[in-house]
Amino acid sequence: MADELIPVEKLTEDAARVELQRLAAEIAHHDALYHGKDQPEISDADYDALKRRNDAIEAQFPTLVRTDSPSQRVGAAPTGVFAQITHARPMLSLDNTFSDEDVQDFVASVYRFLGQMPDNSIAFTAEPKIDGLSMSIRYEGRKLKTAATRGDGTTGENVTANILTIKEIPTELPEDAPDVVEVRGEVYMAKSDFLALNAQMEAEGKQTYVNPRNTAAGSLRQLDAKVTASRKLRFFAYAWGEMSEMPADTQHGMVEVFRRWGFPVNPLTRRLTSVEEILAHYREIGLQRADLDYDIDGVVYKVDRLDLQARLGFRSRSPRWATAHKFPAEQAFTRVEKIDIQVGRTGALTPVARLEPITVGGVVVTNATLHNADYILGIGNSGERIRPEGHDIRVGDTVIVQRAGDVIPQVLDVVLEKRPDDAVAYDFPKTCPVCGSHAVRERNEKTGKLDSVTRCTGGFVCSAQAKEHIKHFVSRNAFDIEGLGTKQVDFFFESEDPALMIRTAPDIFTLKKRQETSLAKLENIEGFGRVSVRKLFDAIDARREIALNRFIFALGIRHVGETTAKLLARSYGSYAHFSEAMQAAAPKFGEAWNELNAIEGIGEVVAASIVEFFKEPRNLEVVSRLLDEVTPQDAEAQAVGDSPVAGKTVVFTGSLERFTRDEAKARAEGLGAKVAGSVSKKTDYVVAGPGAGSKLDKARELGVSVMTEDEWLALIGG
Ligand code: IVH
Repeated sequence: MADELIPVEKLTEDAARVELQRLAAEIAHHDALYHGKDQPEISDADYDALKRRNDAIEAQFPTLVRTDSPSQRVGAAPTGVFAQITHARPMLSLDNTFSDEDVQDFVASVYRFLGQMPDNSIAFTAEPKIDGLSMSIRYEGRKLKTAATRGDGTTGENVTANILTIKEIPTELPEDAPDVVEVRGEVYMAKSDFLALNAQMEAEGKQTYVNPRNTAAGSLRQLDAKVTASRKLRFFAYAWGEMSEMPADTQHGMVEVFRRWGFPVNPLTRRLTSVEEILAHYREIGLQRADLDYDIDGVVYKVDRLDLQARLGFRSRSPRWATAHKFPAEQAFTRVEKIDIQVGRTGALTPVARLEPITVGGVVVTNATLHNADYILGIGNSGERIRPEGHDIRVGDTVIVQRAGDVIPQVLDVVLEKRPDDAVAYDFPKTCPVCGSHAVRERNEKTGKLDSVTRCTGGFVCSAQAKEHIKHFVSRNAFDIEGLGTKQVDFFFESEDPALMIRTAPDIFTLKKRQETSLAKLENIEGFGRVSVRKLFDAIDARREIALNRFIFALGIRHVGETTAKLLARSYGSYAHFSEAMQAAAPKFGEAWNELNAIEGIGEVVAASIVEFFKEPRNLEVVSRLLDEVTPQDAEAQAVGDSPVAGKTVVFTGSLERFTRDEAKARAEGLGAKVAGSVSKKTDYVVAGPGAGSKLDKARELGVSVMTEDEWLALIGG
């Protein structure tokens, strides 16, 4: 076949047009054969070659792309996997604030952390929070080199080809720009472009899109950049990653430089000093919100001086020097048609209201969470009444539904006047609707309070828990296995065929082997194509080596989220060491237990939960089968470079004069030290200020080295 083809570069426009028509028909023919489960006429490789040729010709002649081209197929999800890019500096998210008081607290916390700054001496920038997708664009030698999505903050997807289609983004920077520049900002779709696109889709009888943000995300995640090019995406620059040289020393100055370099920057950005001015600007932007041609969901405040930003530093995922002040959520009235119970990974029974579909802030809502049994009754977490008269929520009720950003919609209140006469109070199930085991509300040992969550006691017996665990296991921040979404997990979990079923996480990694020797071929099953099966196996194999923190997070230990998993990985270094230590900690006293509790950020509830996980033989058995298939990579030693305090454990006590306690801790951690709350044999240094008491005594008793704040400063280099 290949012999007869004219090289793409040599095709005339007319020849290209004819060939694209032929390719569209030919590929459609093979698709029909293939999906009709008929005997395919050509091999995978030949099929792929046809698609590649189609793509290559389209790239050469973008104006000839046909509406029936295989590359334009509607609903064709991105078919492949993007290459990964590790961000030179992590891409963080922002803390949220919701009320004026929250904003006052934020500003106060900045002053408190920095200490000794006169009132109104710190300037903040205030700018709209764009509801799009964050992007990091890297320039080397003033040329656009790569563009990556945020991903999990550490690694994102390489979408350079797609970003190159956005005309607003310069591909070259001026002479005076530094050698290495990473400009960060938001890719978004204008409301007007979104409406035009939907009008076109509707005219063509195609499915319309939900909102500009999702459409922008979908457009960007097209492996085929031509599709991206056909959607008008835009960009606002507001942040940066690695910079070989800093062209300004304030947030405001940096954004001004970006503007000079040709990036679009948001015109509503202001530099303000008092909380009153900040809140006034927030209200001003709120008033303009509906008239802007892009969606925004709040206003972002950032400390303007970069030296102060550096001192404030970061918490685990977000900077201390910034916050996002969100706009109030949008609300609407609708009716509760039904209440269902969902069983989660940890057995929590969550009631969900099935609603008469309603549009809230441009998105159709059909479900809303009812949280727990008390919430349905109108009782809050501390026993208080959460609806004005404490009334309950019933099937048939007219309710107020609220949606805020990406959060699951909530039922806020009931319109009692509209309650039907025959509506009855909801009877919360006493058994798990999936496995029939008892459902209980645990009592908190310390407070004696009843837990708000009703939990299925079925554990491994409960198929809902097992299935949810697999969904967690393959999710983005855990194993991140592309091609194993909710639908696929449901399918594999429910399959009875030994060559197809996935009941526990290790089964994922034996699927390919089981498939090789079986007649129940996945590729013959509706919804899986030859290509997608191959991609799925590749995606699974790609995860046979995995970072230790992701591995720990994926285990789904109750209370162990991503941050805790990172702490554990950093503290124990290897899985073997971690698991051994957790088993040794089982009696909940002794050295291993104390060591676990001494990790800053791990409290007793979390520690107990981890230890419980490792006590359960069934968990150990599943992990052991998993380790036959997967190798967790040892965590990098936490020592950062050559700081003399890297890897050391420090305790601060007494009052500090040169820093606030928070800043001292953040600085030490930034240098790779561990900051502990109590003194033990493992403590390397105790930094004692005036008024130090029992911790200082303990340090002397244990022979731990004690120093003054100034000595500490000299040690870490000022
Ligand atoms: S600053 C280290 N400024 O909001 C902080 N973020 O919730 C870097 N976003 O991931 C972010 N508009 O995608 C910043 N003016 C703005 C923003 C903005 C939208 C997004 C961004 C970020 C998310 C955090």
